[in-house]
Amino acid sequence: MNISEFMADHHRACDDEYVKAEGLVVDQNWVEANTSFANAYADFNLHFKREEETLFPAFEEKTGMAGGPTQVMRSEHVRMRATLDELKNHLEAQDKDKFLGLSESFMILVQQHNMKEEQMLYSMMDKVFGAESENLVKQLP
Ligand SMILES: [Fe+2]
Ligand SMILES: [Fe+2]
Repeated sequence: MNISEFMADHHRACDDEYVKAEGLVVDQNWVEANTSFANAYADFNLHFKREEETLFPAFEEKTGMAGGPTQVMRSEHVRMRATLDELKNHLEAQDKDKFLGLSESFMILVQQHNMKEEQMLYSMMDKVFGAESENLVKQLP
């Protein structure tokens, strides 16, 4: 599996977990929502870690492009992490309205970010790394 395939699949997995948690908040099923949100939270953070600690540095090293697209993606991760933390607070407070209000902007943020990675960055990575691409995927935590 190359970078595009593996990482796009992981985008879908993170989204599915998140959407499940959101549905449980709609139902005010707080106990299950907590578990489901914790799974999504951990998986989003694993995804960011895979990019920030393995894929982005490898790409930056290979291309010499340290201030380019990877920098934009990193700063979007900062915003997504902060939003996830805010969502976590609303969930802990069992504040359905605040959670769902922010949830909408979070999903937009994630979709736009993922689209940029899938349509541009991951395909650039697969091109740049060629046959090495599959090995990089195997090295991911
Ligand atoms: Fe990302
Ligand atoms: Fe990503």
